[in-house]
Amino acid sequence: MPIDQKTYIRDVYSKAWIASRHNMTEVGDYNRSLCSLIQHLVPRDSRLCEVAIGTGWPIADYLQRHGYRVSGVDIAPNLIDRCKQINQNIAAKVGDAENLEYPSASFDCVYCFHSTWYIPHLLDALEEMLRVCKPHGLVLFDILNMSNKKTARAYKKHVFRQTPSLLGKGLRYVSNTGRQLRGQEPDWDFVIFWTPTYPRKIFEFISRNHIKEARVYGVIDPEPIQLDRSADHNDFRRLLFVLVKT
Ligand SMILES: C[S@@+](CC[C@H](N)C(=O)[O-])C[C@H]1O[C@@H](n2cnc3c(N)ncnc32)[C@H](O)[C@@H]1O
Repeated sequence: MPIDQKTYIRDVYSKAWIASRHNMTEVGDYNRSLCSLIQHLVPRDSRLCEVAIGTGWPIADYLQRHGYRVSGVDIAPNLIDRCKQINQNIAAKVGDAENLEYPSASFDCVYCFHSTWYIPHLLDALEEMLRVCKPHGLVLFDILNMSNKKTARAYKKHVFRQTPSLLGKGLRYVSNTGRQLRGQEPDWDFVIFWTPTYPRKIFEFISRNHIKEARVYGVIDPEPIQLDRSADHNDFRRLLFVLVKT
């Protein structure tokens, strides 16, 4: 029976993520630049919240160990359990990005990295991130850029394989047989669990909300580069946004 996206993320995706995080020992250049950016913009001892925190490693863990008070929320209970094992000083709890159970204006900085494309109603989640952020606080997040050709192509292929058309089903069958022959887990479900975003949707969101300043960066290793806000930036598969709340 098909399951909805949030159930899929909670019960299926989270197992794959915990396993892949377990095998990752390198923090990675991009994660390091995200931590440096926060350290540069937000004073130590400030209250941070990571939305879709996963296991908390590496970003929340790094920031907590460097003097920040870090909270975090994730839809998957197994990831939150692992987060608590990795770092007891992170106040992690189970919750939905689209409905954050924190009072308004609780944090100096709210961020969501590597995750916006898994959230079904991203703009609701961004509104929530702004709500729980203090006035003049920062909201940071990255998106997969739907205006980028490679990203759009990968997404269309993913959608096609999940669609119950005869051709889509056939392709999925062939690919799953291949996966099984290689000793990998087949992927039988019909869930479209990740969705890129058009940057203009974010620019529209910015102009509708109480945002004092907004910056956009193209994500490339080792460090994101700042861009102007007038284009779709289709050269970049991933874009990073930094918003300052009014
Ligand atoms: C690729 S992982 C990234 C985790 C973490 N931010 C990191 O950088 O390691 C994506 C995370 O998004 C979480 N997630 C997806 N949809 C969510 C939602 N609606 N509310 C809260 N968390 C969600 C998943 O459970 C998963 O932990």
